[in-house]
Amino acid sequence: MKTAIRGAMLTFKADPFFQDLKDCMVYESDAVIVMEAGKITAVGKADEVLTTLPADVEVTRHTDSIIMPGFIDSHVHYPQTEMIAAYGEQLIDWLNNYTFIVEQGFAQKAHAAEVAKVFLNEQFKNGVTSSTVYCTVFPQSVDAIFEEAEKYDMRIMAGKVCMDRNAPVALLDTPQRSYDESRALIEKWHKKGRAEYVITPRFAPTSSVAQLEMVGALAQEFPDTLIQSHVSENVNEVAWVKDLFPDARDYTDVYMKYNLLRERAIYGHGIHLTEDELSIFSETGSAIAHCPTSNFFLGSGYFNVKKAKDPRRPVRVGLATDLGAGTSFSILQTMNEAYKSAQLNGYALSAGHAFYLATRGTAEALRLEDKIGSIEVGMEADLAVINLKSTPIIEYRMRYAKNLEETLFIQMTLGDDRAIAATYVAGKPVYTAPAN
Ligand code: GUN
Ligand code: ZN
Repeated sequence: MKTAIRGAMLTFKADPFFQDLKDCMVYESDAVIVMEAGKITAVGKADEVLTTLPADVEVTRHTDSIIMPGFIDSHVHYPQTEMIAAYGEQLIDWLNNYTFIVEQGFAQKAHAAEVAKVFLNEQFKNGVTSSTVYCTVFPQSVDAIFEEAEKYDMRIMAGKVCMDRNAPVALLDTPQRSYDESRALIEKWHKKGRAEYVITPRFAPTSSVAQLEMVGALAQEFPDTLIQSHVSENVNEVAWVKDLFPDARDYTDVYMKYNLLRERAIYGHGIHLTEDELSIFSETGSAIAHCPTSNFFLGSGYFNVKKAKDPRRPVRVGLATDLGAGTSFSILQTMNEAYKSAQLNGYALSAGHAFYLATRGTAEALRLEDKIGSIEVGMEADLAVINLKSTPIIEYRMRYAKNLEETLFIQMTLGDDRAIAATYVAGKPVYTAPAN
């Protein structure tokens, strides 16, 4: 069945880190987007598209808002939903004292299913239509998130965490188990509907050399899966990796050695990567997930997107919440913190750059830009509608917004889940804000 929505629309057709923002951004003040069978089948100026539309097609109108591509969260831990806002620690202690406790609960499928439901609901409420998700070591926790996403025909990427050392015994697998269980999950879920599998060694410190070898071999057997892990998030972590892998040149070299760097490999954080390491990321086509709310929360540092995207050795960068070290499901709030992260690196991140990162930029990091991240004919119909007047103070501030750039910047600085008017996944509404 054909449906359509009408309103102001914003999308991106190129990367503003490499060319003029105005040549990358497409804004239409009154657009109609037509959707059928989960895809966008027509898009353009309302008066033009409406003349081609059969009279019986329902057109949902969104006023005082901007329709955008659905946001993509390129690095997020669904099991940590229940421990978001855990006080006081930096990375390693935070993992031991909070994360590794709650993840043990995911041995129970019913618990995993309950959290998966809460998690996806919250993502939809925040305009997130696609995400790259860490599960736990338990395969049933992977089934739980894929099963929940399948109900909505959501484009989801997820994988079983592999770890065989430096964590509680209850959370450890073995090299062979990590291989066998990940392989079985690939066979069960990879490319089933819109699902894709992500081979997920948690990070170098929790994997033995034998495990890294086996997951690297698995990645070579399945070259079209994604790979995810963490790299260079915290200075003590970087020092620990140096101790654990004395033969490696640096942190990145550990992943390079075991064939875990390639296109569609995405690594969380990367704050302290050296020029040499960034060059390896660029050469291998690997990407970094920028997780600013998490980086500030754990006191990890502030990632420099502009430096990563240096045109001499460009690295693809996705935006991510990294919940539950991340402090918000909101991608608007994540953009807000990305702006502050840029400030600490000595530059300002424009709203255009931030909204690009949250949509097409992240799709490019995951090599999904032919499917999601922009509003064009043939793309999957995943959309977020931003209410430009979602709170009294935003409504007041908007009276003084002089142009689109200011409008977007106000939204990303002051907006949160209340700014999401509606979220569409595969052409269907999965969230509509309550009328106020
Ligand atoms: N490094 C290894 N595991 C994790 C995790 O769960 N969260 C964060 N922020 N960093 C990690
Ligand atoms: Zn993470």
